[in-house]
Amino acid sequence: MKLIYNIGLLAGIQPEGVLRVEGAAQGSTGLLENAWLAIEDGRIVDYGEMADQVGHDGFVIPGSDRESIDAHGGMVMPGFCDSHTHVVYAGSRDGEFLDKINGLSYEEIAARGGGILNSADLLHRTSEEDLLEQSLVRVKEMMDKGTVAMEIKSGYGLNKADELKMLRVIRRIGETVPAKVKSTFLGAHAVGRGFTHEAYVQEVIDMIPEAAEYADFIDVFCDEGFFTVEDTDRILTAAEHLLTPKIHANELAVSGGVQVGVRHKALSVDHLERTTNAEIFALEDTWTMPTMLPGSSFFLGLPYGQAKEFLKAGLGVALASDYNPGSSPSGDMRFVMALGCIKMRLTPIEAFNAVTLNSAYAMGVSSEYGSITRGKKAALILTQPGWDLTKLAYQYQTPFIRQVIL
Ligand code: NIG
Ligand code: FE
Repeated sequence: MKLIYNIGLLAGIQPEGVLRVEGAAQGSTGLLENAWLAIEDGRIVDYGEMADQVGHDGFVIPGSDRESIDAHGGMVMPGFCDSHTHVVYAGSRDGEFLDKINGLSYEEIAARGGGILNSADLLHRTSEEDLLEQSLVRVKEMMDKGTVAMEIKSGYGLNKADELKMLRVIRRIGETVPAKVKSTFLGAHAVGRGFTHEAYVQEVIDMIPEAAEYADFIDVFCDEGFFTVEDTDRILTAAEHLLTPKIHANELAVSGGVQVGVRHKALSVDHLERTTNAEIFALEDTWTMPTMLPGSSFFLGLPYGQAKEFLKAGLGVALASDYNPGSSPSGDMRFVMALGCIKMRLTPIEAFNAVTLNSAYAMGVSSEYGSITRGKKAALILTQPGWDLTKLAYQYQTPFIRQVIL
């Protein structure tokens, strides 16, 4: 048994069985001041107020116990959950950063053979060991910044051998780090070199059975200039019963990606920079979590997702980092939360729920991660004294983490 005591604020408490929060409910979370929390076998077993120093099963807050952590008035909250990343990649695309500064758009850079194909060329020339080593640096950076569960996509292989190399690396990351790692096969990220569009869609379909041995999810970049609704439908049909969809949709255009994702029971549809009421309507009463990626809006200068409209319609919203070399070279979920507040007008608690419980839901781990709930993993952030959820987003660059508990 390990105890954290003298907690100034225990934030993000949810009753058992709440797997996501939607609509008005996204605006609240359980808070307890002057609290303690008990951990056993890596799970939260109990929590309570310092004033009554006895837990449900009768133990007394010891304080002097060597296993105990004095929080010194810091906040304890669930660690960040990042349901959309591309952190397995080789090298860097900093050359394109200059093109971007000089005014080229994401699509123009891609059309010149930069973008995703550039990353695919770099990855092709990189050994599996080297790719693992390079990617682990980023994963550790994310964990240092408080991320305790993450999804990682393939999609810079764009041929069978290299896609499987990526999926093996994602699996090895999951075996190496204490954070939870979920894996997504994104063969349909761009048309691989040497293929016609048609031939590549077929190639992706042919990769599915082997990819399914490694991955939890399947993703398609369903957007203008990449894959059509028809391609997406074919790929998701082939993956039925093997891989659950999580779809890139509506980043560059109103693509139809949301609707095709919902039809195939996608666990999430992601990006959503460009949506209309039709997308909101399509998502109502589904199990699909709309996921927005404000870090890529920030980096590419795209519109921000209309999160408030989604909440007003009674939907939940998740936020994720999209950490990748082309559109969001950052996995800082605290910054994502701040962008949610500053640019999308989410309240701090709405944004907090978006980067914890709802993002955990969007990668299928919210029964284990994303809130302070008895029985869930003790995957927590302990902050310096004096922090709360508003300050977290408001004072968005001040270091706040004292310890990430995993
Ligand atoms: O989510 N939009 C597609 N894929 C990534 C970008 C990948 C890249 O440019 O390397 C994204 O933004
Ligand atoms: Fe992405």
